[in-house]
Amino acid sequence: MPIGIVCKSQQDLGDVAAYVAAMPRKLENGVGPGTNLSVGKKLYEKDCQSCHRDDGRGRADGAFPIIVGQHFGYLCSQIRDMALKRRRNSLPAMVGVISQYSPEELVAVSDYLSPMQWPETQDSEY
Ligand code: HEC
Repeated sequence: MPIGIVCKSQQDLGDVAAYVAAMPRKLENGVGPGTNLSVGKKLYEKDCQSCHRDDGRGRADGAFPIIVGQHFGYLCSQIRDMALKRRRNSLPAMVGVISQYSPEELVAVSDYLSPMQWPETQDSEY
């Protein structure tokens, strides 16, 4: 399937989703500098894990996405955009917490998350 395809129907959309789902997943995501992991861990446990779970795999029942196995740069940019209220689809409860963070705290929480690996198994409970 060529890159840049335009989805003209539900079927096209389904085909693209199946194509992306079948792509091999590269686990060597870009990781952060690892300089402030203890700060990031504390912030994560206090403010994030109630929704994204302790291992970052999220909760299907609440539509809380998995947030591990992602590039450090992507996490930083998304979390910064939430803090600046530029990521408009973000959950207000999450934005409320993140917008209180200092720039150092935004980096620390991204740094903590970036080396965490995608879970090997998907348990049915979540
Ligand atoms: C009240 C539940 C809740 C809390 C608390 C919460 N999140 Fe989220 N988070 C969500 C939901 C729902 C989404 C998906 C929709 C959106 O972007 O808001 C999300 C999306 C994200 C994304 C984007 C994932 C992607 O693939 O683009 C990141 C990154 C993230 N959260 C990080 C955090 C961090 C870091 C914290 C703690 C500082 C946190 N979240 C706290 C519910 C929460």
